[in-house]
Amino acid sequence: MSKKQIVTAAINGEEQSLLCQPRQTLLEVLRDVLGMTGTKEGCSNGNCGACTVLLNGRPVDSCLVLAVECEGSNIETIEGVADGNHLAPLQEAFLENAALQCGICTPGFIMSAKALLDENPNPSEHDIRFSLAGNLCRCTGYDKIVRAVQDAGARQRAAAD
Ligand code: FES
Ligand code: FES
Repeated sequence: MSKKQIVTAAINGEEQSLLCQPRQTLLEVLRDVLGMTGTKEGCSNGNCGACTVLLNGRPVDSCLVLAVECEGSNIETIEGVADGNHLAPLQEAFLENAALQCGICTPGFIMSAKALLDENPNPSEHDIRFSLAGNLCRCTGYDKIVRAVQDAGARQRAAAD
Protein backbone atom coordinates (compact mmCIF):
# COMPACT_ATOMS: atom_id res chain seq x y z
CA MET A 1 0.00 0.00 0.00
CA SER A 2 1.24 3.53 -0.80
CA LYS A 3 2.60 5.60 2.01
CA LYS A 4 0.12 8.04 3.52
CA GLN A 5 0.82 11.75 3.24
CA ILE A 6 -0.11 14.66 5.44
CA VAL A 7 -2.02 17.35 3.58
CA THR A 8 -2.69 20.70 5.20
CA ALA A 9 -5.54 22.82 3.85
CA ALA A 10 -8.08 25.32 5.10
CA ILE A 11 -11.55 23.78 5.05
CA ASN A 12 -14.32 26.31 5.54
CA GLY A 13 -11.75 28.65 7.05
CA GLU A 14 -10.31 26.17 9.52
CA GLU A 15 -6.81 24.84 8.92
CA GLN A 16 -6.76 21.03 8.99
CA SER A 17 -3.98 18.47 8.61
CA LEU A 18 -5.17 15.26 7.02
CA LEU A 19 -3.53 11.89 6.66
CA CYS A 20 -4.37 10.76 3.13
CA GLN A 21 -3.46 7.98 0.79
CA PRO A 22 -2.15 9.33 -2.52
CA ARG A 23 -5.02 7.63 -4.36
CA GLN A 24 -7.78 9.19 -2.27
CA THR A 25 -9.93 11.85 -3.86
CA LEU A 26 -10.90 15.05 -2.12
CA LEU A 27 -14.47 13.72 -2.08
CA GLU A 28 -13.40 10.54 -0.26
CA VAL A 29 -11.39 12.48 2.27
CA LEU A 30 -14.19 14.96 2.96
CA ARG A 31 -16.81 12.26 3.41
CA ASP A 32 -14.89 9.27 4.76
CA VAL A 33 -12.03 10.85 6.72
CA LEU A 34 -13.64 14.08 7.93
CA GLY A 35 -17.27 12.87 8.05
CA MET A 36 -18.39 15.91 6.04
CA THR A 37 -21.17 14.15 4.19
CA GLY A 38 -22.88 17.30 2.93
CA THR A 39 -20.82 16.95 -0.25
CA LYS A 40 -22.60 14.25 -2.22
CA GLU A 41 -21.31 11.41 -4.34
CA GLY A 42 -23.26 10.81 -7.54
CA CYS A 43 -21.31 9.43 -10.47
CA SER A 44 -17.71 9.56 -9.17
CA ASN A 45 -16.52 10.33 -12.67
CA GLY A 46 -17.02 14.06 -13.19
CA ASN A 47 -20.42 13.99 -14.86
CA CYS A 48 -23.02 15.01 -12.29
CA GLY A 49 -21.56 17.85 -10.18
CA ALA A 50 -23.10 16.51 -6.95
CA CYS A 51 -19.64 16.58 -5.38
CA THR A 52 -18.90 20.23 -6.24
CA VAL A 53 -16.81 22.18 -3.73
CA LEU A 54 -14.87 25.41 -4.13
CA LEU A 55 -11.11 25.02 -4.40
CA ASN A 56 -9.45 28.42 -4.01
CA GLY A 57 -12.78 29.98 -4.94
CA ARG A 58 -13.38 27.93 -8.09
CA PRO A 59 -15.95 25.16 -8.36
CA VAL A 60 -14.43 21.70 -8.88
CA ASP A 61 -15.76 18.16 -8.95
CA SER A 62 -14.17 16.85 -5.78
CA CYS A 63 -14.36 13.29 -7.15
CA LEU A 64 -11.80 14.32 -9.78
CA VAL A 65 -9.34 16.03 -7.43
CA LEU A 66 -6.79 14.05 -5.45
CA ALA A 67 -6.62 15.14 -1.84
CA VAL A 68 -2.83 15.40 -2.05
CA GLU A 69 -3.28 18.06 -4.75
CA CYS A 70 -4.97 20.29 -2.16
CA GLU A 71 -1.88 21.05 -0.07
CA GLY A 72 -2.02 24.70 1.01
CA SER A 73 -5.40 25.30 -0.61
CA ASN A 74 -8.60 26.90 0.56
CA ILE A 75 -11.57 24.53 0.32
CA GLU A 76 -15.19 25.56 0.80
CA THR A 77 -17.94 22.98 1.23
CA ILE A 78 -21.69 23.14 1.76
CA GLU A 79 -21.12 22.86 5.52
CA GLY A 80 -19.50 26.30 5.48
CA VAL A 81 -22.25 28.15 3.62
CA ALA A 82 -24.69 28.83 6.48
CA ASP A 83 -23.73 31.21 9.27
CA GLY A 84 -24.30 28.98 12.29
CA ASN A 85 -28.05 28.39 12.45
CA HIS A 86 -28.75 31.11 9.87
CA LEU A 87 -29.09 29.92 6.32
CA ALA A 88 -27.30 31.90 3.64
CA PRO A 89 -29.53 33.85 1.20
CA LEU A 90 -28.73 31.24 -1.44
CA GLN A 91 -30.00 28.43 0.79
CA GLU A 92 -33.13 30.38 1.72
CA ALA A 93 -33.78 31.11 -1.94
CA PHE A 94 -33.51 27.41 -2.84
CA LEU A 95 -36.01 26.52 -0.11
CA GLU A 96 -38.48 29.28 -0.89
CA ASN A 97 -38.37 28.71 -4.65
CA ALA A 98 -38.83 24.94 -4.22
CA ALA A 99 -35.56 24.43 -6.09
CA LEU A 100 -35.01 20.97 -4.69
CA GLN A 101 -36.85 17.69 -4.44
CA CYS A 102 -34.73 14.70 -3.43
CA GLY A 103 -31.85 17.07 -2.62
CA ILE A 104 -28.92 14.90 -3.72
CA CYS A 105 -27.84 17.51 -6.27
CA THR A 106 -28.50 20.53 -4.06
CA PRO A 107 -25.15 20.98 -2.27
CA GLY A 108 -23.37 20.89 -5.61
CA PHE A 109 -25.76 23.41 -7.17
CA ILE A 110 -25.38 25.71 -4.19
CA MET A 111 -21.59 25.61 -4.35
CA SER A 112 -21.57 26.31 -8.10
CA ALA A 113 -24.10 29.11 -7.64
CA LYS A 114 -22.07 30.53 -4.76
CA ALA A 115 -18.98 30.70 -6.98
CA LEU A 116 -21.02 32.51 -9.63
CA LEU A 117 -22.60 35.03 -7.24
CA ASP A 118 -19.27 35.66 -5.48
CA GLU A 119 -17.88 36.74 -8.84
CA ASN A 120 -21.00 38.25 -10.42
CA PRO A 121 -23.75 39.39 -8.01
CA ASN A 122 -26.16 40.17 -10.86
CA PRO A 123 -25.91 37.32 -13.38
CA SER A 124 -28.19 36.98 -16.38
CA GLU A 125 -30.25 33.82 -16.87
CA HIS A 126 -27.72 32.79 -19.50
CA ASP A 127 -24.85 33.31 -17.02
CA ILE A 128 -26.66 31.15 -14.46
CA ARG A 129 -27.46 28.34 -16.88
CA PHE A 130 -23.88 28.42 -18.21
CA SER A 131 -22.38 28.32 -14.70
CA LEU A 132 -24.63 25.47 -13.59
CA ALA A 133 -24.17 23.41 -16.75
CA GLY A 134 -21.92 20.94 -14.92
CA ASN A 135 -24.54 20.19 -12.30
CA LEU A 136 -27.26 17.68 -13.11
CA CYS A 137 -30.66 17.40 -11.45
CA ARG A 138 -33.04 14.54 -12.20
CA CYS A 139 -35.98 16.01 -10.29
CA THR A 140 -36.60 19.72 -10.69
CA GLY A 141 -36.35 20.51 -14.39
CA TYR A 142 -33.84 23.32 -13.63
CA ASP A 143 -36.19 26.33 -13.98
CA LYS A 144 -36.79 26.59 -10.24
CA ILE A 145 -33.06 26.34 -9.61
CA VAL A 146 -32.39 29.18 -12.04
CA ARG A 147 -35.10 31.28 -10.38
CA ALA A 148 -33.62 30.52 -6.95
CA VAL A 149 -30.20 31.75 -8.03
CA GLN A 150 -31.75 34.93 -9.50
CA ASP A 151 -33.61 35.43 -6.22
CA ALA A 152 -30.47 34.80 -4.16
CA GLY A 153 -28.59 37.39 -6.21
CA ALA A 154 -31.35 39.92 -5.57
CA ARG A 155 -31.31 39.14 -1.84
CA GLN A 156 -27.55 39.50 -1.66
CA ARG A 157 -27.62 42.79 -3.58
CA ALA A 158 -30.37 44.13 -1.31
CA ALA A 159 -28.37 43.14 1.77
CA ALA A 160 -25.28 44.86 0.40
CA ASP A 161 -27.11 48.18 -0.26
S1 FES B 1 -19.76 12.59 -8.04
FE1 FES B 1 -18.31 14.00 -8.80
S2 FES B 1 -19.15 14.69 -10.69
FE2 FES B 1 -20.54 13.16 -10.02
S1 FES C 1 -33.47 17.47 -6.51
FE1 FES C 1 -33.27 15.36 -7.00
S2 FES C 1 -31.59 15.29 -8.37
FE2 FES C 1 -31.91 17.42 -8.04
